[in-house]
Amino acid sequence: MNTLTKRVEWQALQAHQKTIASFHMQDWFNQDPQRFSRFSLTLEEIFLDYSKNRITTETLNLLSQLATATHLPKKINALFSGEAINSTEKRPALHVALRAPEKQSIYVNGQNIMPTIHATLKKMGEFIEKVHNATWRGVTGKPIRDIVNIGIGGSHLGPLMTVSALADFAKEELCCHFISNIDSAHLNAVLKEINPESTLFIISSKSFSTLETITNAETLRHWLQTQLNTQNIAPHFIAITGATEKAMTFGIPKENIFDIWDWVGGRYSIWSAIGLPLALLIGMDHFLEFLAGAHSMDQHFQHTEFTQNMPVLMGLLGIWYINFFGTTHHAIVPYSHPLNYLRSHIQQLDMESNGKNITQYGETIRFLTGPVILGEQGCNGQHAFHQLFHQGNHLIPVDFILTGKRNNELDHHHAILVSSGLSQAKALMQGKSYAEALAEIPLENNTLEERKQLAKHKVIPGNRPSNFLFINRLTPRNLGALIALYEHKTFVQGAIWDINSFDQWGVELGKNLLPPILAALNAQDNILHDSSTAGLIQHYRTLRKNV
Ligand code: F6P
Repeated sequence: MNTLTKRVEWQALQAHQKTIASFHMQDWFNQDPQRFSRFSLTLEEIFLDYSKNRITTETLNLLSQLATATHLPKKINALFSGEAINSTEKRPALHVALRAPEKQSIYVNGQNIMPTIHATLKKMGEFIEKVHNATWRGVTGKPIRDIVNIGIGGSHLGPLMTVSALADFAKEELCCHFISNIDSAHLNAVLKEINPESTLFIISSKSFSTLETITNAETLRHWLQTQLNTQNIAPHFIAITGATEKAMTFGIPKENIFDIWDWVGGRYSIWSAIGLPLALLIGMDHFLEFLAGAHSMDQHFQHTEFTQNMPVLMGLLGIWYINFFGTTHHAIVPYSHPLNYLRSHIQQLDMESNGKNITQYGETIRFLTGPVILGEQGCNGQHAFHQLFHQGNHLIPVDFILTGKRNNELDHHHAILVSSGLSQAKALMQGKSYAEALAEIPLENNTLEERKQLAKHKVIPGNRPSNFLFINRLTPRNLGALIALYEHKTFVQGAIWDINSFDQWGVELGKNLLPPILAALNAQDNILHDSSTAGLIQHYRTLRKNV
């Protein structure tokens, strides 16, 4: 069994939690006018206010001591130097190399990978140029107008989230669509919007064997061949994959295949050619700025002491709540429509990375690890589930993410948006006492008993933690830095829990169980299943016969 909880640093945090658990943050704000400036920091155009957390300076010192005792500095070094930190798959996790400058050298199996990375970036740039200047055309001679990304998981969420976030930077003549789900309703909805003559399909699959993606790609290939009455799909299909042979067998010429390497995890792949839909939309220069923003966050993470280090602080705060207050959830609430899919991206990033109960050494973990990530863009979430944040018995830390006004945003709308985020964070922290609730209920038409009764319902405990991330402008550089911030936050937590954050064996189990079930649905196969699965298979077969 893992011994993290036996460490003196862990036990010091447990004792500290007991001493401060009954304090209300509002009192700390009242007593200390410097609290905001002490617990906030800026990195380029990203400002983090973490003063609305149930922490004191001592909390941060104790958390930093835990990070040091669990060898976080050594582990950060291992990440950046390309050690095989994905121990179960015996490979490094080198997404940081994808955004590092060309002059840097990073080695995998004795080979410097930087020239390969930059050769792929160059190939992307050349391809994008051809699409933009219309030298790349469909079989009937039409320039490309619609791009359809076919992928799932990291090969979908990264492109979807970033294309949506940076819509203001997109070329007007191009439109990007996404097909991830095997449910053909998804595919049919996109087919209604595109013209086969001017559509480019991008098959994004590191393995080129993900069932949903390959099935969708085959259906779309057939659709295109039928629509255009041709077998020549080459100008309409490109692939991003680590399985070149498989993509060639599908019918894609080698020169139209963009490489991704096994040392890039799916949920960390937006920085590779998986980012091609984004690069096509915003142009290669902006894509390079996106990479540079992430690199700048990498530098900060690698070289800044823990109490001033944004990803380390956010990671430690998460651990503080999960392991010492017993929280199970963490909310991502961007008050920004373009950041609508950020929660989905972070959901995969965090939950697929740290949703584990085993250390990298194979020891069972009995404490809670990665949180359930939930969220929604503000103000929508306010009118849906924030009620539980305010008065439910769950303690759910929230990350509020706001940006400065975009050029095309209406000034008064933006002011309301920002005020909404600020007032939610304030309400969570401050709450409302019984006396305050009673005082606001009018005397007229209410007996004292009625007022007392109603006041009880209006009490809001407050003391609910949140971080407030304010990004000056939603630019490619700042978005790159923001995503890298969450990647490193996830890394910090995995490192302290001693988890391998880069495998996903739970997902693999579901994938492996599917083929015999599919076979059973389609044939009268009698493979032994548990009675529930067997009963449901039978139910489906009957349904299918009767429809
Ligand atoms: O969901 C599991 C997973 O392996 C993710 O990690 C990955 O992003 C996704 O499937 C898609 O995989 P591929 O890019 O190989 O199609």
